[in-house]
Amino acid sequence: MSVAEAHADTSKGCIDIRNTGVTFGSDESEIVAVKEVSINVQPGEFVSLIGPSGCGKSTLLSIVAGFVKPTRGEALLDGKKITKPGSDRGVVFQQYSLFPWLSVRKNVEFGLKMAGVDQNRRNATARSLLDLAGLLSFENHYPDQLSGGMKQRIGIVRALATSPQVLLMDEPFGALDTQTRVVMQEILTNIWQQFRISVLFITHDIEESIFLSDRIYVMTARPGRIKAEIKVPLPRPRTPEMTDTPEFMNLVQELKGLIREESLAAMAPEIKDRGLSGFGMKVGPKGVGELY
Ligand SMILES: Nc1ncnc2c1ncn2[C@@H]1O[C@H](COP(=O)(O)OP(=O)(O)OP(=O)(O)O)[C@@H](O)[C@H]1O
Ligand SMILES: [Mg+2]
Repeated sequence: MSVAEAHADTSKGCIDIRNTGVTFGSDESEIVAVKEVSINVQPGEFVSLIGPSGCGKSTLLSIVAGFVKPTRGEALLDGKKITKPGSDRGVVFQQYSLFPWLSVRKNVEFGLKMAGVDQNRRNATARSLLDLAGLLSFENHYPDQLSGGMKQRIGIVRALATSPQVLLMDEPFGALDTQTRVVMQEILTNIWQQFRISVLFITHDIEESIFLSDRIYVMTARPGRIKAEIKVPLPRPRTPEMTDTPEFMNLVQELKGLIREESLAAMAPEIKDRGLSGFGMKVGPKGVGELY
């Protein structure tokens, strides 16, 4: 049985966030991060969460990861209330969170070691996952010796090593340059296609969310609520050519409209109509002139 087949329990990995709100702090310093959100990810589904900065995306993901407790409502994984982190959920963050003192293979093995898996099985699992990600020849390298894209591929492989039902990804490609990012999206969609686990994915990048997802939730500015739910009817497997199709471009336009409204709302009151037309300064032959 391949590593990918070992993961393929298609009946598991249902995330259900119900009427969930999160308030940080108390009294005057109270911040309502998430107002009242209900979202779900079905087994084997790829779902993205997109919305303006500070609207509570990471907070929602952290609830599912078991790092944050909701103030109200609840989050369920396969019908069971989430109360703490667990190896049934793999997490990948924007920052490369590899252990610098461990080799690539030992990084991938880490979760398995914690779970008490014996050395031989750990080694075999890590090697076949690294092979899948095209990184086997780097198994004895250390994170410092790798590029950002490689580190993030190892981050994904490491998150998959314990056979989680769910992969939680918080802007995993946010720190990468555009070209590397596009390649990483292709790698991720191919890996997901093989593993068929549920993914909750956070991104600021509209094209990225369409390319990868079955469904996209668009959030409002803080306090975050769900503004829209968009289905992505593009066929699988996804290919880079699809990004040039009218279907793809129409989805980009639709999402851009929704996000723009919310980004403006998030930046208010600083941004007024006049602010949108630039700094309102005249630039003459002697440089910057009078204001208005
Ligand atoms: N531990 C915390 N304590 C207090 N406030 C917090 C905490 N975590 C998040 N917040 C606040 O909750 C709100 C939502 O934060 P969150 O990180 O979930 O937003 P986000 O949508 O992920 O933003 P970004 O796109 O910038 O990553 C923000 O106003 C943030 O300052
Ligand atoms: Mg965030």
